[in-house]
Amino acid sequence: MGLDLGEVERRLRTRFVGRRFVYVASTSSTQDLAREQAEADAAPGTVVLAEEQAAGRGRFGRVWVSPAGSNLYLTLVMRPDLARLRSLGIVAPLSVALAVEEHTGLSPQIKWPNDVLLGGRKVAGVLIESELAGREVRYSLVGIGVNVNFDIDPASDLAPIATSVKRELGRDLSREELLASLLNRFEELYEEAPHGTAVYAAWRSRLETLGRQVRVTFRDQVQEGIAEDVDGQGNLILRRSDGSRVTVEAGEVSLHGDAGC
Ligand code: BTN
Repeated sequence: MGLDLGEVERRLRTRFVGRRFVYVASTSSTQDLAREQAEADAAPGTVVLAEEQAAGRGRFGRVWVSPAGSNLYLTLVMRPDLARLRSLGIVAPLSVALAVEEHTGLSPQIKWPNDVLLGGRKVAGVLIESELAGREVRYSLVGIGVNVNFDIDPASDLAPIATSVKRELGRDLSREELLASLLNRFEELYEEAPHGTAVYAAWRSRLETLGRQVRVTFRDQVQEGIAEDVDGQGNLILRRSDGSRVTVEAGEVSLHGDAGC
């Protein structure tokens, strides 16, 4: 069954996020549809949603498996100024984690920078694509995929690294309730982020990466060390085996010996 958007709207407490939905049964990727909307002057907070994606994509050119009817695939069109751009990568995973927690009592963790995990497996991912003109952000596309009621085949390659809310909870969860909470949280955190450190601290407190020996790969660069902390911008600070510290702005974290996810 398709999403009941009326139900989502009844639960929204937002000023601008989710005040306009573009909802389609199927698309290549909500990122592509959202880009068209953004180029056509869509208002900030516009949410592009699809029941399924034929070419859902993740970070680093990966495929985001996007079957119909059971999950959430959405892209928010945002128009932050440059100073707020980085906060999107903190606000998005935190809003997913808080919404899942609110409806399940489970405690999602975050794998730096913005994967959401349940029981050590990935339940949601965030892909942010921004269009800049000089120092101006024309728009930012915040793509969020949440495995909600996805029955992951135990024999599939995904099973060891991915999970769904249903798998962890043992029952279906209303996608409408989860989506409304996610959007409510997103706006709340986005508005709060520039004022103080509470949003950053809430994101940091859920980082399962801290204190672990990790390998961070970004393009052709690999850094290894203990994930000691994150700085105020959300960068990861690694302590190398020779005692030196390095700050990493972006990348894919894997623990030594695992394949990441
Ligand atoms: C990742 O973890 O690598 C990011 C996954 C992001 C998936 C979402 S689903 C909605 C939006 N459309 C896409 O094609 N990707 C994002």
